[in-house]
Amino acid sequence: MMRLDKFLNDILKLGRKDLHRIIKAGRVTVNGEVQSSPDHKIDEDTDIICLDGEEIVYRKFVYYMMNKPKGFITAMDDRRQATIADLIPKAVLDQNVFPVGRLDKDTTGLLLLTNDGQFAHRMISPKYSVEKVYHAGFDGHLREDSETLFKQGIRLDDGTECLPARLDRTGEQECIVTVTEGKYHQVKRMIASVGGTVTSLHRDMIGGIPLDSELDPGEIRPLTDDELCILMTLF
Ligand code: URA
Repeated sequence: MMRLDKFLNDILKLGRKDLHRIIKAGRVTVNGEVQSSPDHKIDEDTDIICLDGEEIVYRKFVYYMMNKPKGFITAMDDRRQATIADLIPKAVLDQNVFPVGRLDKDTTGLLLLTNDGQFAHRMISPKYSVEKVYHAGFDGHLREDSETLFKQGIRLDDGTECLPARLDRTGEQECIVTVTEGKYHQVKRMIASVGGTVTSLHRDMIGGIPLDSELDPGEIRPLTDDELCILMTLF
């Protein structure tokens, strides 16, 4: 339950004075009845609130995708380096979004943003096996048995064991790597352990949702209901 004026302010961001004027003018209905008390308690999950006859849908949580460009660190604040927050419009920052997992400064591609901590945790946690797909360019030659080693679970140079992953060669110097966890520099280190040096890394997909090809580097957009539905059914 929450106050009607707080509910409207969370969404419309008009300020208390203007909102009270709107409510007192009888422009707001709750379940079809005009409600002119700003402190009226509503149930944001079940009540239908309309302003001038238009339903106002309350979304507690927000979800976006970004096409992360090179040169930005995956953080919301840094004293010295440019961060992905520099690319996010103020109205979205005001929703207290944060990145779901991390891409290296020189990695590009799909980055999810949300203010839903449980969702973020589940997308990242190896427990939920959400697949992250990367397109890598590399120098050097990969071992013949790289695919098998990836399938078995790579052991990194420092002894760290990775969960089973997939390696698909797509060219002499490029491949696609699918992982379900996100250790530090994981894909670069996995490729290094079979003989390659990553020269470019781009995340194409998370949990079956591809990066929108219409998004230019640095742009963000909300996830569609269909995309969200697909991700939510993964756990
Ligand atoms: N693996 C890496 O090595 N870097 C990234 O940015 C993401 C996955």
